[in-house]
Amino acid sequence: MTEDARALTGRRIVVGVSGSIAAYKALILVRELTSAGAVVDVAMTPAATAFVTPLSFAALTHRPVVTDVLGLDPDSQIAHVELAEAADAIVVAPATANLLAELAAGLVDDAVSAIVCASRARVVIAPAMDAGMWTHPATQRNVETLRGFGYLVLEPEVGSLASGLTGIGRLAEPATIVAAVERLFARSGDLEGLRVVITAGGTREPIDPVRFIGNRSSGKMGVAMAEAARDRGAAVTLIGGTMSVTPPRGVTLTEATTAAAMRESVIRAAPAHDILIMAAAVADFAPARPSGRKIKRDASGLDLRLVPNPDIIAEVGEMPADIRPFLVGFAAESDDLEANATGKLRDKGLDLIVANQVGGPFDAIGSDDNTVTVFGVEGALTDWPMLPKRQIAERLWDLIADRYRRDDPAPTRGRKAATRAPRR
Ligand code: CTP
Repeated sequence: MTEDARALTGRRIVVGVSGSIAAYKALILVRELTSAGAVVDVAMTPAATAFVTPLSFAALTHRPVVTDVLGLDPDSQIAHVELAEAADAIVVAPATANLLAELAAGLVDDAVSAIVCASRARVVIAPAMDAGMWTHPATQRNVETLRGFGYLVLEPEVGSLASGLTGIGRLAEPATIVAAVERLFARSGDLEGLRVVITAGGTREPIDPVRFIGNRSSGKMGVAMAEAARDRGAAVTLIGGTMSVTPPRGVTLTEATTAAAMRESVIRAAPAHDILIMAAAVADFAPARPSGRKIKRDASGLDLRLVPNPDIIAEVGEMPADIRPFLVGFAAESDDLEANATGKLRDKGLDLIVANQVGGPFDAIGSDDNTVTVFGVEGALTDWPMLPKRQIAERLWDLIADRYRRDDPAPTRGRKAATRAPRR
């Protein structure tokens, strides 16, 4: 069991459920919190009970569910006050636009808002709503107010919504919410003082003003690494290519959509950072002569000459030891995973490489989960099962921080030592 997972053992957690179609995901959330060892109580707004029954939650928690702001618990105490005082953390998931407004305004007219308002516990809020509601200035203002209260508001995710539209507004995955709650109780701040630069997403190599060569990278792994590092106290620079996920708040974001732009940003950033995580899927080739004008249809076809792009991480690997950051690469391999990944580790001068198998029945690209193996110069370092990308990110940071500090011990931690020995 990880240190984070142990962090929930015996914790009293109240899950507040409001009236969104995503309320069914709160069942999974409650089950996962319970299996992580937490003692979970559930409070529901009246609208939430129209989507999922209190009985379903009671069956999972083996505890009464609070649905009424005036309700009494089995000892005839006012249930919402009892829970507000007992809770170590309150997780509101899903939180509707209406509930965010209530919480921001201090309005109390259901069991969930009553518990949050009456409690001193740490609060995590996972909103779910239509994209238009989420982006409305009133909602965004309420979110800012709630963050100002010290509440952790998890960004909703991009995807298909109950309205049938695609956009931002989906409830964060239960595993993401659990990881956020675990971190509240875990080793927050263990990456404090470290400056990390992370690349994420794919690159687009222009053919003409409207066409490009690209890849399917979603940016999820790099963004998960950035969020985890940020939450653990690192100063994070995210160099984002094309991504299908929202970049996290609280990081310095640079956009770099072509391999050339990404190279420039990475080369510029590397000397000022302690660790470089190259999670981006950089195109290996770009059209030799992108056309300034839109290429017209031609019945005889189109010959496109491609030229190799610079190998960015290998270039950083060549930097002098005093400015070269600790280097972590990623490799997706369809064959000979270990041989190819360790070959890249050596050839590119990396400290660690995170490898995963592609081309089988499971497609990690764009998925929320993955199975990875980390290799160092001495071979495979991990044997992890399939995990949500956010949990992989947490484990990777445990490993990376450990290795980094072993190579660059405490006195210089987080600051590049001019005398740091070359790693290769
Ligand atoms: N990488 C990079 N610059 C490139 C290509 C890749 O910095 N032009 C980085 C990736 O971000 C990743 C690592 O190198 O961290 C391995 O990427 P991968 O595409 O597996 O390596 P390639 O050398 O391109 O090998 P392959 O021929 O298998 O694509």
